[in-house]
Amino acid sequence: MKKLLLAIAVLHTVCVAASSRQLHIIPQPVRAELREGVFAAPGCRITAKGFPSQPGDLLRLASELAAPREKGSSRRGASTLLLRLDTTAGIPREGYRIRVTPHSAQLTAGDESGIFYGLQTLLQAADANGNIPCCEIDDHPRYGYRGLHLDVCRHFFPVEFVKRYLDRMASLKLNTFHWHLTDDQGWRIEIKRYPRLTEVGAWRDKTQIGGYDEKPATFEFEKYGGFYTQDQIREVVAYAEKLHITVIPEIEMPGHALAALTAYPELGCVNGPESYEIGGWISGPSNVFCPGKEHTFEFLENVLDEVIALFPSKLIHIGGDECQRTRWEACPDCQARIAAEGLQDETQLQSYLTHRIDRFLAARGRQLIGWDEIMDGGLSPEAVVMSWRGTAGGIAAARQKHHVIMTPGQYLYFDKKGSDSPEEPVSLNLALPLEQTYGYDPAEGLSEEEQQYLLGVQANVWTEFVPTGRRVEYQLLPRIYALAEIAWTPEARKSWQEFSEERLPAFLARLDAEGTPYRVPAPRGMREESLEGGRFTFTIRPPFPGCRVFYTLNGATPYDFDREMPDEFRLVVPEGEQRVLKCVAVTPSGRRSIVVTTRLSNPRK
Ligand code: ACM
Ligand code: ZN
Repeated sequence: MKKLLLAIAVLHTVCVAASSRQLHIIPQPVRAELREGVFAAPGCRITAKGFPSQPGDLLRLASELAAPREKGSSRRGASTLLLRLDTTAGIPREGYRIRVTPHSAQLTAGDESGIFYGLQTLLQAADANGNIPCCEIDDHPRYGYRGLHLDVCRHFFPVEFVKRYLDRMASLKLNTFHWHLTDDQGWRIEIKRYPRLTEVGAWRDKTQIGGYDEKPATFEFEKYGGFYTQDQIREVVAYAEKLHITVIPEIEMPGHALAALTAYPELGCVNGPESYEIGGWISGPSNVFCPGKEHTFEFLENVLDEVIALFPSKLIHIGGDECQRTRWEACPDCQARIAAEGLQDETQLQSYLTHRIDRFLAARGRQLIGWDEIMDGGLSPEAVVMSWRGTAGGIAAARQKHHVIMTPGQYLYFDKKGSDSPEEPVSLNLALPLEQTYGYDPAEGLSEEEQQYLLGVQANVWTEFVPTGRRVEYQLLPRIYALAEIAWTPEARKSWQEFSEERLPAFLARLDAEGTPYRVPAPRGMREESLEGGRFTFTIRPPFPGCRVFYTLNGATPYDFDREMPDEFRLVVPEGEQRVLKCVAVTPSGRRSIVVTTRLSNPRK
């Protein structure tokens, strides 16, 4: 009896601890309800039912939950984690159902992706000891296409980095990796038939450094480059597949082709003494393929044949953006093509190229996707439009009954800086605060009828100003959490306040403990602004518990040996005087936020 009472007391303690916790899941599930008690995952028995064959990868993932922890549960082997594939349960595609009691955790889905995502949810729900709060979760994605892009041309990132990128995507239920493989600043995919693409086109002798607005530009004169062999590409595609991620390759045409033209100048309009030089960020009109020459189509189709053999993705991205067509105006071959095909102008010449490539891909069972410029001059029949110049292109394409991916620059360009502060690292000259990304609703501006053409949403990470993998992570974190929620969670379940104050802090604390580079949000309650008055009260909250906020009042940069801000900070500015209040958040690992400057003045009456 004494033992039983003790057991009840212990159980009660655990239950209280669990009920005081919350489910911190990103993206927010469709429905998630906490129940009393916890399921101690370490040491649990894992069983799988309903699978056509042993789901080895899913069982391996589940075993991460069951792995013993240092301070593991004493109830080893007493509980069960059941993975159940049930196509009759009425669970939407990629969705899942979780029922966790103190004795069992049941995860049911109608497909293996659903089981995979359910396991990601359980992994997030588990605390450091492997305890999962008892709960009921019913979940499925808002969009079938949940994408993230990476530009490996402006800067190159090795296979191991790409795999970690995919890991992070999968943990947040993102399922499409858009791999931007060719551009002016480097050709990054081995093409056997055209070896100079990587022998020449993957390397540059100089790299523009400095910010977008820097004039004149500064260059670093070092050989820089790299590319993926076809074996490496296959390795990444296979790795992604295990993470339920489709990899869409992008082969840019007809613009952004400077690296290819450097390798094979005969693909341009002017085939002669002109030298192409890779290295600057801003490309001129000479970076375009010549659609007047048959030879160009032969090249593009041969490249695409090798690309198709490497990537099982139905969608193949052909770029199409920012093509300067002035070269075509003076090119006899281009003008002859315009005349022969009865085209009106150079805009229609680009459309002619897109249509031809569309037919080529369709004949091979693939589908063309391009940036929204592919609409100029008439959209080709099968094309999917990726709307980046705002949402207007995507809306117009949906109205033409074309499928659309929304990736508008004002919400989803993660190469942008986090704020307008001069302290932000060298960046594009535009700011994109986290709240702006979070607030985006991809269905905005589309009628219900038009929304059926909206496949989903994607964020892009261009890398002109992002030279290292660590900097990629800084641009991505914490924005990727907002992206995941936009892509997965029903709009009615999103809440900036709840996300930024409840769940995000838990994820930031984890990043901080891991040592991952991320952008530390500024202390909540402080903003870059100028205020007038005599008495000021600021209610300060650090980005997550454990961070501290320090300040100065004389304009000096605050450090962690300066004065620490109390939760409620009061200040009196005498009449006729002003103060410059600067504050910074410092995390437990020593990482700093951007300094926030608030100017306070009390003008003489
Ligand atoms: C783009 O950002 N040029 C698609
Ligand atoms: Zn031409």
